[in-house]
Amino acid sequence: MIAANLRRWTPICAVLLLLNSAQAGGQDVQIADVGRPGEQEPITPIPLVPAGDPRKVSLGERLFKDPRLSHDGTRACMTCHDVSSNGADASERDRGVDGSLYQFNTSTVFNAALSFRLGWEGRFLSLEEHVEASLNNPVLMGTNIDEVLVKLKADDEYTGLFREAYGHAPDRGSLFNAFASYERSLLTPASRFDRWLQGDVRALSPEELNGYQLFKSLGCISCHQGVNVGGNLFERHGIFRPLASPTPEIVRVPSLRNVATTPPYFHDGSSPTLSDAVRKMGEAQLDRNLSDQQIEIIVDFLQSLTGTFHGAPVVAARP
Ligand code: HEC
Ligand code: HEC
Repeated sequence: MIAANLRRWTPICAVLLLLNSAQAGGQDVQIADVGRPGEQEPITPIPLVPAGDPRKVSLGERLFKDPRLSHDGTRACMTCHDVSSNGADASERDRGVDGSLYQFNTSTVFNAALSFRLGWEGRFLSLEEHVEASLNNPVLMGTNIDEVLVKLKADDEYTGLFREAYGHAPDRGSLFNAFASYERSLLTPASRFDRWLQGDVRALSPEELNGYQLFKSLGCISCHQGVNVGGNLFERHGIFRPLASPTPEIVRVPSLRNVATTPPYFHDGSSPTLSDAVRKMGEAQLDRNLSDQQIEIIVDFLQSLTGTFHGAPVVAARP
């Protein structure tokens, strides 16, 4: 299934890449021909949070923040995915229930619902499937669904909340659905870039617009595009030069939404700053040595992708 998708996407991306690098030939930073907001752009705004059943959403939120769900009661989803900051945390890689370092940097849960697959390797097709895997993962939550259901059924408050939201006691389906309902509400609309897309010409500075133009003309856009500025393709990393740890070779292109708030970067957390990540992307994915000025305006543009959660700007996690 995944292999089939890789075969489908990789050539498309490679063709886009060729087209884009051909167009990019000889261009430098001064270009300001970014079109007008509202015109067809390869990035679309984050939609408003879907209404959802408030009882399911708030039950999901409670589950997400409850450490009792992990096997030893020490961690909740929220321990690694802090929704009061960036939906992730500041560490390169988190420690598992067993004390070992997890293989991957923690992805943000913000806007995850808008990506076509979940996880760095894109192995999960739905939030529900991913919740099950996170709970079952011996390193992340270290539990299993039966153990979670026993705990929930023994708790009168939870049983009552499940009855209100689903009309019956907790079971696998309602458990996954409650989590997923909450996760679907974790969208961060109203970034300055989205306001520009929606027609507010003053939402972006000239530097940010130049940065966006360069992002398009260099070909970053051939992989980072769509509503999540990523999250809709599989790609090889380190195409021209090694980027990060060589495994896995192919990852789901990460979303760049709120990227200024989510250091460190890459699947192994090996890049400490956004400018470092942009420089390495130029080398590894496009075979270009970007100038400091080019990196600076691309970073300016990427900062305009920071959205809002419950009306407040998304912020970096505390180290
Ligand atoms: C120990 C830290 C940790 C805990 C606890 C944890 N996660 Fe994660 N989460 C991660 C890491 C690391 C990744 C990236 C994993 C991968 O790609 O294999 C991730 C990825 C995700 C993603 C995918 C984001 C994307 O864009 O693909 C979602 C959604 C998510 N977690 C939800 C949850 C939920 C729900 C729970 C609780 C049931 C949970 N996580 C518990 C560390 C954690
Ligand atoms: C050929 C596809 C491709 C192109 C072109 C590309 N990227 Fe990426 N980008 C990726 C992949 C794949 C990753 C994940 C790499 C990893 O973690 O191993 C990534 C990761 C990133 C990250 C880190 C995100 C995170 O959360 O860790 C940033 C920032 C980024 N790219 C910016 C850019 C910029 C800026 C450009 C243009 C100079 C660019 N990319 C060009 C595919 C691409």
